[in-house]
Amino acid sequence: MLTFLIVCAGNELKDKGRTIMEENLKIPAHVALILDGNGRWAKKRGLPRQFGHKKGCETLEQVVEDAARLGIRYLTVYGFSTENWKRPEEEVGALMQLFRFYAKRLLDIVDAINVLEEKTKKNTGMTFVIAVNYGSRDEITRAVRKIMTDVENGKIAPEDMTEKVFASYLDTAGIPDPDLMIRTSGELRLSNYLLWQLAYSELYVTECLWPDFNKEELLNAIRQYNKRERRFGGVTAVKTE
Ligand code: IPE
Ligand code: IPE
Ligand code: MG
Repeated sequence: MLTFLIVCAGNELKDKGRTIMEENLKIPAHVALILDGNGRWAKKRGLPRQFGHKKGCETLEQVVEDAARLGIRYLTVYGFSTENWKRPEEEVGALMQLFRFYAKRLLDIVDAINVLEEKTKKNTGMTFVIAVNYGSRDEITRAVRKIMTDVENGKIAPEDMTEKVFASYLDTAGIPDPDLMIRTSGELRLSNYLLWQLAYSELYVTECLWPDFNKEELLNAIRQYNKRERRFGGVTAVKTE
């Protein structure tokens, strides 16, 4: 069962851009994205939903590059949820076709992904994570199952369990929690995305449909993020960097 595809860019793209310098913007280390609105984008144009997904992939290619250039260290994108299997077969097929294409057109998606992960694991640029067949409740349930097995086998005792240990059983093990979560298309919900990891992330929702998203939209989200005071339950601003 595939949940996370993790790819690291070869080099750091150190083009931090004038806007960041001029506005003195602090760049979130980890941005989580719910790219939503592909279907509505296509419908507005009288096109089948699949066209929205195709355009959405092109948008994603550009945004991944923009994010790396802005100095974002991790970008985690919700590509396909455990609930998205409920969609018409034709749409699911088209989405899988796109994932295959992006996983280097290899027939076996999982093999392609393993190769990609293996080949890029020593790279130092931005880490791009795409969550496919991912659902946070499924992730947490699988983590609990692994923990129970480890307890049974004596690898861990119940009293050893801490938040840190628990997090190490999640698909995001080794990846810091998102600082900023962006959702496109105006929906005010998490749709089963990173429920544990988003506990203290700043949330930003834009009406923009995903295929229309661009660098300026990303910068707007970062500008909003810069206006937030992250208190983490405390009373004064906490420095995060
Ligand atoms: C997001 O766009 C892509 C996936 C969920 C795979 P949608 O397909 O959800 O588009 P809307 O929300 O129906 O417009
Ligand atoms: C969330 O979007 C899942 C992805 C973006 C992959 P959905 O379009 O599936 O979410 P709901 O159904 O509107 O909550
Ligand atoms: Mg949607």
